[in-house]
Amino acid sequence: MDRQISAVQAIVDRMFAPGDRVRILEAGCGSRSFLRFGPAAYIAGIDISKEQLQKNTLLQEKIEGDIQTFPLPPASFDIVICWDVLEHLPRPEQALNNFLHALRPGGLIVLGAPVLTSLKGLVTKYTPHWLHVLLYRKLIGNPLAGTPGYGPFKTFLKTSMSPRSIYRFADDNRLGIEFFEAYEGLMQQTALRKYRLAGIAFRAVAPLVKLLSFGSIDPRKTDYVAVLRKPRAEHDPEPRVEYALSAQSSERC
Ligand SMILES: C[S@@+](CC[C@H](N)C(=O)[O-])C[C@H]1O[C@@H](n2cnc3c(N)ncnc32)[C@H](O)[C@@H]1O
Repeated sequence: MDRQISAVQAIVDRMFAPGDRVRILEAGCGSRSFLRFGPAAYIAGIDISKEQLQKNTLLQEKIEGDIQTFPLPPASFDIVICWDVLEHLPRPEQALNNFLHALRPGGLIVLGAPVLTSLKGLVTKYTPHWLHVLLYRKLIGNPLAGTPGYGPFKTFLKTSMSPRSIYRFADDNRLGIEFFEAYEGLMQQTALRKYRLAGIAFRAVAPLVKLLSFGSIDPRKTDYVAVLRKPRAEHDPEPRVEYALSAQSSERC
């Protein structure tokens, strides 16, 4: 994931100088942030959990609310970051539209989320929440797991947050795709190394699944990162796609 974060950070750094008064919204902020901004930046965070907001020390403004429905002020942020949150929403498309409404022209939406059609995505979607909590408590050893403000959070993994839907959302709203990458997360890499035989079998079968699904399902890609850019004005040409969409079209799931 470090590589993907560095790529997103590079886009942000290219767009904004350290002295710029950039306005950032961390949507589903939780208690941490991946991107770094200069000292003049103003960072607001919205989260449905007041416990998560309390733990967050990076924010100048804290909003307790649902990102799908909260009336965000129009055209008021330069960047909306939504990291590891879309999978927790029953209506991700509403959140995406809300972000677009709150974004100023030329601004960026940064998304990070799991891929539903990956092994991790399917297992997460089709196993009950109580099992996730149990695994966090027993395997990760966090006795507070599942209590207010502590993950795992309930997961919906709706198709409207799949990479394909994100591309469609971008097309429908004339958003440029500054960056898109689907990748294999650390958890899967570690598990496949640990359980060698299962790992070998998975690595052998995964390309076959990709082939048989005409490239639309690749079980190796567990997560994706996307950076979308709102056009500056109605008549502006669509922003340049920096990381060739066509070259990566097989990454759409
Ligand atoms: C897995 S955490 C990710 C937090 C943070 N973005 C990060 O990367 O560490 C998911 C967060 O989404 C929040 N969340 C879940 N549903 C939400 C909603 N409808 N509106 C706002 N926040 C929500 C949770 O409270 C939690 O803080």
